[in-house]
Amino acid sequence: MKLARVSIHPATIKELHKNHPHITSDRYSLCFPKNAPLVYWYDEKKDKKYFFLHDPLHQKIKARLWKVTVEKRAEDSFDFIKELNDRFERVLEEKGQLFKSSERENFFWLFGEADGFPGLRLISFNDTFVFQAESFFWKQFKDVLIKKLRSMRNDVQCVYWQERTSSGESGKLEKILGDDLKQATINEFGVNYTVFFDDAKKDFGLFTDMAFVRKEMKQRGLFEGRNLLNLFAHTGAFSFFAMKNGATQTHSVDLSPTWMDVFYQNREHNKLENCTYTVGKVEDYLEESKDTFQVILCDPPPVLTIKEKKMSVMNFYQRYLNKMIHLLDKEKGTLVLFCNNHSIKMSDFEKEIKKINNKLKIKGYLGLGEDCTVISSFNEGNYIKGVILEIC
Ligand SMILES: C[S@@+](CC[C@H](N)C(=O)[O-])C[C@H]1O[C@@H](n2cnc3c(N)ncnc32)[C@H](O)[C@@H]1O
Repeated sequence: MKLARVSIHPATIKELHKNHPHITSDRYSLCFPKNAPLVYWYDEKKDKKYFFLHDPLHQKIKARLWKVTVEKRAEDSFDFIKELNDRFERVLEEKGQLFKSSERENFFWLFGEADGFPGLRLISFNDTFVFQAESFFWKQFKDVLIKKLRSMRNDVQCVYWQERTSSGESGKLEKILGDDLKQATINEFGVNYTVFFDDAKKDFGLFTDMAFVRKEMKQRGLFEGRNLLNLFAHTGAFSFFAMKNGATQTHSVDLSPTWMDVFYQNREHNKLENCTYTVGKVEDYLEESKDTFQVILCDPPPVLTIKEKKMSVMNFYQRYLNKMIHLLDKEKGTLVLFCNNHSIKMSDFEKEIKKINNKLKIKGYLGLGEDCTVISSFNEGNYIKGVILEIC
């Protein structure tokens, strides 16, 4: 496999020295030889070699760090396939231990950069596994990955491959092993959910990267004996989880009739009562509702369309947070607000919330964890940020 030595931009060198793992598009990276799937840069000052996965087709990220080594003539002995197999085996073994005690059938076996697999995720829903590739690099190693996966896990029945687009949206699902199921049922912390392998549905119907957040909420006893308003509820995962963990009642709001149907199927499947759903815009609900809630959870998309205008999640809170507080039980109300945007730091989110209402006091933080870890030098990977707030 062709490995080429390359020069990189001085600004990228600074970032690499801060452990940032990407080379973005610039006049240096655009000249990397297109036919080399792997490239390396020799840091002469530090006598280190940086090996990268080359991705000429990606619009923004041209290469992702695979390893750094001080080994002499490392380029001569570099055997990528062997390293790939060894690394995959090690991660599957480590994650396998975590999976056993996870109480879930939905699980991230690879979580990109944090697991040493830049631009690649592997998620399982029971015996169905889905590779999600953000980097076009991985396409050429599909067979190697699937062979290794099957040799390590005897529960693999079905495998899908999904390319994510350069803008980060999910691309088409391609079935590469087993039957094209379209949907399945899985259990997460005692709740059954229908999950979808169907392009028409746009996502799986359950966000597994939020499982750790749900677990943290349970540990805090957030829902016990309280009612919940779940805003941007999607298929209602937080509502069902709350009901299983002591909530008295939940009300979910989302504009998607498709997800409402799934919500009602899941409600029936779990034999849960006292869970209602409004199909509509959160902003309209907040203007019109007269109900009171002890917990209000708000998990908006990073960019919203409100009254035909695009609005950032921060602008949404500037405009609607006080309306939310209006519906909150004044005595024992808790707000759980999310800002799922990697470019907004937790400290800025906190500052903004306090600016909007200085009576709010932070009681805790929520974020990625367990099978979905974060590396501090890679902000892009830290995209889930939640705060638990009370009025003081
Ligand atoms: C990131 S998902 C929420 C995930 C969900 N809270 C969970 O993890 O279970 C965002 C949801 O917001 C909904 N949505 C987007 N804009 C909305 C709006 N203005 N009013 C109501 N729902 C909206 C979408 O239909 C989508 O289901």
